[in-house]
Amino acid sequence: MPAAIPATMRYVKAREPGLPEVLSLDTTSTPSPKAGEVLIEVSYAGVNRPDCIQRAGLYPPPPDASPIIGLEVSGRVVALGDGVSEWRVGDFVCALTPGGGYAEYCLAPAAHCLPLPRGLALLEAASLPENYFTVWNNLFVLVHGGSGGIGLAAIQLAKAFDAKSITTVGSADKAAFCRDIGAAHVINYREQDFVAEVATITGKKGVDVVLDMVGGDYIEKNMKCLAIEGRMAIIAFLQGSKVTVDWRHIMMRRLTITGSTLRASPVQRKAEIAASLRNKVWPLFEAKKIKPVIFRVFPFAEAAEAHRLMESSAHIGKIMLEVRPA
Ligand SMILES: NC(=O)c1ccc[n+]([C@@H]2O[C@H](COP(=O)([O-])OP(=O)(O)OC[C@H]3O[C@@H](n4cnc5c(N)ncnc54)[C@H](OP(=O)(O)O)[C@@H]3O)[C@@H](O)[C@H]2O)c1
Repeated sequence: MPAAIPATMRYVKAREPGLPEVLSLDTTSTPSPKAGEVLIEVSYAGVNRPDCIQRAGLYPPPPDASPIIGLEVSGRVVALGDGVSEWRVGDFVCALTPGGGYAEYCLAPAAHCLPLPRGLALLEAASLPENYFTVWNNLFVLVHGGSGGIGLAAIQLAKAFDAKSITTVGSADKAAFCRDIGAAHVINYREQDFVAEVATITGKKGVDVVLDMVGGDYIEKNMKCLAIEGRMAIIAFLQGSKVTVDWRHIMMRRLTITGSTLRASPVQRKAEIAASLRNKVWPLFEAKKIKPVIFRVFPFAEAAEAHRLMESSAHIGKIMLEVRPA
């Protein structure tokens, strides 16, 4: 049986919007689950780029979400809200959370929790939800930023479902990593023009889908990479969202430009993604066809160091926080 739930818990507080040094441990009251939610005693929390943006004050959490940073966790269910029947106290889960992950206890909708894929430890399972939910909600094939959390999920899913991925990276080490996890082609965007490379690789046909997180001048370049009736899914704007583009690309090749943000998606939509990941993607982890990639684990109290590493882009794979050793 889990120990009694303490009235207060430690969490990573962002004192004010700013650089990683605004992060430090503090104490707050432990939340209680509302109807349809579970309370998780957190073992690990994933560090995602949106966490850095929230810390800097540029990505406010949705109104009903915890103001604490952190979008994914793993741990043990210690309390159930009214109407939760799919989990029991004591179950180990990994979960997509609307916020609150950098804490000893975290709430998540029961329908956004998944079991640990058989054969994966709590650390590895905590690295999955934010990236696999996001990629499952989009499609493949030209994947920018292949060595980051989102990129490595997209490359592996593309391969597992027999799609060929072309990915962009900023260094030779990252290129080798992306090839190793299954990218069919890797382009170093610092040395090569990815529009020309995509044309060569596809015999001028173009790709069916671009998954973009860069924005800026990539928007028009991505349009040039798309095949007739191709689709661009935009999930972030690392280089800005206000751009001038030649819209004729859309008209001439019947392109579809779309985008999404997982965090603001309706609870029901995220529950559908969870169900589909459980059926179609968790078995791939269990069969070792795809794998989590953990680059570095920081103690909970060193969240600022974890954010510095993420913002340096020196990482290859996921950065994680250890809240309570498994
Ligand atoms: N919309 C959503 O639902 C959603 C959900 C989660 C995350 N996101 C967004 O997705 C992005 C990735 O998140 P993450 O957690 O995977 O971060 P991450 O691990 O830091 O990955 C981002 C990668 O992008 C690469 N990159 C930066 N500039 C680039 C450029 N000009 N061309 C190609 N690659 C470039 C970086 O590697 P290099 O060294 O190779 O440049 C970096 O590894 C973030 O912007 C995040 O906000 C969106």
